[in-house]
Amino acid sequence: MDRYAVLGNPIGHSLSPEIHRRFAEQTGQTLQYVALEVPLDGFPEFVADLRAEGFRGMNVTVPFKQEAFALSESLSDRARAAGAVNTLIRTDTGWRGENTDGAGLVRDLTRNLGLALRQHRLLLLGAGGAARGVVQPLLAEQPALLHIANRTTEKARQLVASFPGEKRLAHSGLDGPFHAPYDLIINATAASLEGVAPAIPDGLLAKGGAIYDMMYSDRPTAFIEWGRGQGAAIAADGLGMLVEQAAESFHLWRGVRPDTRAVLTAMRPGGQPSS
Ligand code: ATR
Repeated sequence: MDRYAVLGNPIGHSLSPEIHRRFAEQTGQTLQYVALEVPLDGFPEFVADLRAEGFRGMNVTVPFKQEAFALSESLSDRARAAGAVNTLIRTDTGWRGENTDGAGLVRDLTRNLGLALRQHRLLLLGAGGAARGVVQPLLAEQPALLHIANRTTEKARQLVASFPGEKRLAHSGLDGPFHAPYDLIINATAASLEGVAPAIPDGLLAKGGAIYDMMYSDRPTAFIEWGRGQGAAIAADGLGMLVEQAAESFHLWRGVRPDTRAVLTAMRPGGQPSS
């Protein structure tokens, strides 16, 4: 049976095995997908062992996406732009590195949540690996503005500077200066892991605007609560992004595209879509 895995540390909470099990069932594919915790100092050796065991592909999560990038023999354009790899595809001679995170985010925003990005004003919070991975896919949707705000202003400046000549990008610290109002505010910081929302001022969200937390939790994150308090018309967490990036990986490995909507509905507590 073809074998796949998600690699991370920690990995205990991963929903990926359940998502891929549902995809396989739905599309009639026979495969096995497991979550494996990798020692922090042993990623390349671990991947080499899985290769020897015949694994066909891997998803890679925190904190190994840069290491997966480094060991990839070839890279897709979007993996190169992200500087990170979340999907490894076995080839005859090594691994091809892909990044499906940005596509997953954009599909969830536009297809599942019905948000328009073209000519809209976006605020992206964070300038770490998670933020970097979604900048180019968001720009490809032709927003009027993509403002990147980060706690450490210099990292936001560097991220914007890595897209030379891109006039739709702006940057600042979390205290501004901003160019409000924003139609959509996306949280790509690790603040939700600490149970807090990034410390941005009130009043940045446009009337009828949306907020999106790239993190998923079975309870509303602090950022979701913040967004509701700001009157967001839509406040969604990252479950849809997780399912959509998984579907992109599944498609790369298996050549079939699962119906994400059915899986998302089945996995959402109470069967509710994002709200
Ligand atoms: P990831 O791969 O999840 O993006 P990372 O590269 O370590 O992880 O980046 C973490 C991001 O979350 C950074 O943008 C970080 O801000 P700094 O660059 O100033 O460190 C941000 N972050 C972490 N904790 C935060 C908090 N409590 N409030 C706001 N931003 C936070």
